[in-house]
Amino acid sequence: MNYQAVLASLPDAVIAVDATLRVVFWNAAAEELLGRSARRSEGRLVKELLPPNASIVSRFAETVASGEGRSEADASVDLPDGRSVPVSLLTAPLFNRDGTVEGAIAVLRDVSRLRQLEAEVRRGETLAAAGHMAVGVAHEIRNPLGAIRGAVQLLARELRGEPRFAEYTDVVLKEVDRVNRIIESLLDLGRPVQLRPVPLNPHQLLERVGLLTEAAAREAGVTVIRRYDPSLPPIFGDEDRLLQVFHNLVGNAIEAMRAGGRLTLTTRVSMNPLYGKMDVGGGQRTMVEIQVSDEGTGIPAAARARVFDPFFTTKDTGLGLGLAICHRIVEEHRGAIQIDSREGHGTTVTCFLPIAR
Ligand SMILES: Nc1ncnc2c1ncn2[C@@H]1O[C@H](COP(=O)(O)OP(=O)(O)OP(=O)(O)O)[C@@H](O)[C@H]1O
Ligand SMILES: [Mg+2]
Repeated sequence: MNYQAVLASLPDAVIAVDATLRVVFWNAAAEELLGRSARRSEGRLVKELLPPNASIVSRFAETVASGEGRSEADASVDLPDGRSVPVSLLTAPLFNRDGTVEGAIAVLRDVSRLRQLEAEVRRGETLAAAGHMAVGVAHEIRNPLGAIRGAVQLLARELRGEPRFAEYTDVVLKEVDRVNRIIESLLDLGRPVQLRPVPLNPHQLLERVGLLTEAAAREAGVTVIRRYDPSLPPIFGDEDRLLQVFHNLVGNAIEAMRAGGRLTLTTRVSMNPLYGKMDVGGGQRTMVEIQVSDEGTGIPAAARARVFDPFFTTKDTGLGLGLAICHRIVEEHRGAIQIDSREGHGTTVTCFLPIAR
């Protein structure tokens, strides 16, 4: 058995150093993870190849000094292109025949996909908890609010002869209606959704959203561009709920382009390695991508992880429920939703939805 070949073909990055912390082995997975070839790495000091404060450098040094292995589940490595990849890290000493430490070996595993899934699960839990609470609160508020609305309407009728009071009763009614709308959105988040999926033409769906948002788009100076794939098969979805999703996404896009710009609606059969085919129950299903792209403000890096959180908003009049509800609905369809954003350049939200069979 050729052990070198075994190590070389492991899916985890494997790096070995000698007692002076000079790299003696760097497998293909290490080349890929760290973006550095074995040829350019072997023979060099590990601290020259990775940032000197990288935990792998200190773990190697400790392992060589103490002859004991180290493990770290939450390490990360900074790549030359500025990205930081979360990894799990394990080191072990390599011994000479006489028992002295000859070097050390490290195994690094890229755990970014795992971390992403964990974040998804946490997000789902927050949403469920917020939803439960919302339903309770909303029910308590709805009844007294109904009573207030009724009473104010009566009052308005009584005061018909006194126009100077009409202004006040109008304000009360308008604000009560606003609270009611907020409660409706809260209930949307908490209500167990009963999907009624049917085969749908995604383009007709987007055109309906277009009609609903036409006025707002015109007002903001936003032009809508359609990049529809004419051969796109129908998707399997709940028309009203998906209308809500794209209404929210298009709304966000327009709100992000106060000074105007292009809003692009794109459809295509997905080739995405992760979400292109998904198990929607009863086997793998091909997914369709429906994309809403804007040239607006973009989402600052610090906010990116929070945009799906219920009540996270950066807008004066926003509730911060739009994306939380979108996430919920897309998940009910066994699909996925993804955001790519560059601050100052724009945002693209991609929904992956299953085709009808
Ligand atoms: N297309 C986008 N461009 C820039 N920022 C966005 C975009 N979409 C969402 N965001 C950011 O994410 C936040 C949350 O969006 P979300 O739709 O959940 O709530 P909202 O739009 O603030 O309020 P609501 O939709 O409830 O009226 C927004 O406040 C905004 O900061
Ligand atoms: Mg919104």
